[in-house]
Amino acid sequence: MKIQGALSRKLLSEILAPSHVAALPKVLGPISIVFMGIGAIIGAGIFVLTGTAAALYAGPAVVVSFVLAGLACAFVALCYAELATLMPVAGSTYTYTYASLGQLAAWLVGWNLILEYSIGAAAVAVGWSGYFNGTLDSIGLAIPPRLSTSTGQAVQLADGTTATAIANLPAAGIVALLTFLLVQGTRESARLNNLMVAIKLTVILAFIGFGIGHVSVANWQPFVPPNTGTFGIFGWSGVLHGASVVFFTYIGFDAVSNCAQEAKRPQRDMPIGILGALVVSTILYILVAGVLVGVVPYPELNVAAPVGLAVDRMGVGWFAALIQLGALIGITTAILVLLYGQCRIFATMANDGLMPPLFSRVHPRLKTPWLSQIMIGVIVAAIAAVAPIEMLSELVGVGTLFSFLMVCASVVRLRRLEPHAARPFRVPAVPLIPMLGILSCLGLMIGLAPMTWARLVIWIAIGLVIYFAYGRSRAARRLSDDLKAGDDASA
Ligand code: ALA
Repeated sequence: MKIQGALSRKLLSEILAPSHVAALPKVLGPISIVFMGIGAIIGAGIFVLTGTAAALYAGPAVVVSFVLAGLACAFVALCYAELATLMPVAGSTYTYTYASLGQLAAWLVGWNLILEYSIGAAAVAVGWSGYFNGTLDSIGLAIPPRLSTSTGQAVQLADGTTATAIANLPAAGIVALLTFLLVQGTRESARLNNLMVAIKLTVILAFIGFGIGHVSVANWQPFVPPNTGTFGIFGWSGVLHGASVVFFTYIGFDAVSNCAQEAKRPQRDMPIGILGALVVSTILYILVAGVLVGVVPYPELNVAAPVGLAVDRMGVGWFAALIQLGALIGITTAILVLLYGQCRIFATMANDGLMPPLFSRVHPRLKTPWLSQIMIGVIVAAIAAVAPIEMLSELVGVGTLFSFLMVCASVVRLRRLEPHAARPFRVPAVPLIPMLGILSCLGLMIGLAPMTWARLVIWIAIGLVIYFAYGRSRAARRLSDDLKAGDDASA
């Protein structure tokens, strides 16, 4: 490390030094990694937001919104692929920023990744609860609404009266269950994830296959409905607004980079995992969106379960139940991979002294950072029990875009700072592609509500206070301990 303090950055040699890499077993192959990516990407979003974006902003051109958001993610994914092969360790964007922009920037990125991963997992768990309650409802086993809705929300009881909800227990329950699984082992979690992703892909392909036969071409007209006079409501500005909304559905492709340390051959498998998962998901999203707006006229799609509505219109009863189940299982994998990713990022930050050491403690038998995983699980479960999904998902979007900007900037800066480092995967046309990544992320950020920006500023301010009150001095102490240990070893 060249300079001590907030601007000090880590050299690649330090990041890759064996003493700095937590002892996690290398158990993940390319299929598991691609499936981890698809597991994280395809979650609640496609089953919920596609309808909202079509009905309120883009009309049938929501298909183009998916292409635009996918393109923005592709620029960023190329940058992730270069950095994940250059630094095949856990910690993802946090680690890359430490190497390129220094400790303070890395801390802020790590702090914002909490929005993407922990708050993201909570948001998806709330979406999961909606589908779970619907499934139970359809077989006559409904959970009382006061126990399956976010705290403080008004709910309607069976007798027609209204009451105030206590907590969303199914949302908290699924987080607790997946946390238990993750503690048991990465290999075990990946196997279950593979199975669930396979079911999810089958259901989505079945929706596309069945749906194509029920598309009425008239529903695709007008493809871009005329703008209403307000920017972002239909017309081409609505297509852009739609891209900001459906961006949430792509969140998670970067979670693959957290597997780098547990990958058997990270140099080969990271680009395959990141780009493969993104390409598969983008193609499926475009097809699902096209079928959805082809089966149901877009003004009718602003409902909680638009995919379910389209299936109802197809008039195949058993298929509706299958879609419900597929969505439920699919959403489960998104929570699983987000909880996993958060834990690996905290472990890396704890290794550097920016988080308490217990976050990097690995269980001697299970070989997982169990204490950290349990603490994350408890906090995420508590948030999922009390907070509504809309508030959570906005925070997730802005936190993620912030870290994507840093990744694109890191590629450009590291090409200058460490020009001779081995790069098994290189982003083509640097700095053009990272610049396009930065511009597209900024474009998507502009589409977010001003309130979300205000929340981001408050979140960053809290992060700065914690860094200067706690993280900076602990990281410096940790560094001097490392140096002493290095001197002792060489003496
Ligand atoms: N991309 C994930 C989802 O759509 C977060 O649920």
